[in-house]
Amino acid sequence: MIRFDNVTKVFPDGTKALNGVTVTIPTHKLTAIIGPSGCGKTTLMRMINRLELPTSGEIFIDEQAVSERDEVELRRSIGYVIQRIGLIPHMTIEENIAIVPEMLGWDESRITARVDELLELVDLDSKTYRSRYPFELSGGQQQRVGVSRALASDPNIILMDEPFSALDPISREQLQVELRKLQKKIKKTIVFVTHDMDEALEIADEIIIMREGQIEQMATPDELIEHQATDFVRDFIGQDRIARRRDFAQRTLEEFDELLDETWVGDYAEASSMITVQEAIDLLADNSNKRIAVKRNDLIIGYLGHHTLLKAAMKDREGELSV
Ligand SMILES: Nc1ncnc2c1ncn2[C@@H]1O[C@H](COP(=O)(O)OP(=O)(O)O)[C@@H](O)[C@H]1O
Ligand SMILES: [Mg+2]
Repeated sequence: MIRFDNVTKVFPDGTKALNGVTVTIPTHKLTAIIGPSGCGKTTLMRMINRLELPTSGEIFIDEQAVSERDEVELRRSIGYVIQRIGLIPHMTIEENIAIVPEMLGWDESRITARVDELLELVDLDSKTYRSRYPFELSGGQQQRVGVSRALASDPNIILMDEPFSALDPISREQLQVELRKLQKKIKKTIVFVTHDMDEALEIADEIIIMREGQIEQMATPDELIEHQATDFVRDFIGQDRIARRRDFAQRTLEEFDELLDETWVGDYAEASSMITVQEAIDLLADNSNKRIAVKRNDLIIGYLGHHTLLKAAMKDREGELSV
């Protein structure tokens, strides 16, 4: 558990980035921090691994004050993934992942085995990619390596600062789905900064909404759609999104029943609940799949076939099925 106790940060130029933040980030959960640009998300996150120091207040990791920890040891014990990937260009993928294990003095064979395991974990073929250089990988693949590197020494805490926001929408959604899968396996304490509300709603167990250096609300995605603590939170999520999410939850249950009556054999494609009508049509056209299983937080919440899609397309002219 990571606990912020009345943390304020004033930068030397007088900017107050955080203003009396008290919040507890739960262990083994994925907590998203979201808010407008400049509201203090990155500053809050960088205090966990002491890249920033509080002006007043204290941060505790499992009730030990961060200010009492050795800086180097602390940083090595926390994984960190940033938007601009930060892979070292003249080092191979393997060397990039091995940075922290090397510093920790692991022997060669242990590092080799760990690199294999990590690449597998993020769905990259080790034989193909381990000796490549970063520029030989797509943005999405590089960010997978970034995630591997953060996991290398098996830290309990992983900090991710807008890790997917520089990616194209398809890679981003893939990585969101995979991060959820990964988290199910590894159960780390992940702190994930984003400015994308849909991303937060899709991947997070808990969401912290910030505004001007303060916390407006902390809640699960479902609670947040159900109840907004302030007008700011309501506006920030957006009335449309709230309405659509509520509607979708109801609609799929009805349609799910309906679809169970239609028999089919064969595989289905999987998609997140953010799929649009157009994307769903493309998916059905591309694949020999007869159905799409719509998933949210790794649970199938409904199925889509041509029939349902047609109805949805007629219902919603903007072409957005869900969200
Ligand atoms: N090193 C710094 N010196 C002065 N001001 C800073 C520094 N770092 C961040 N800030 C300011 O602190 C505020 C919060 O920044 P940041 O935590 O990066 O916000 P976010 O990540 O939510 O966009 C902003 O007003 C930003 O300009
Ligand atoms: Mg930031």
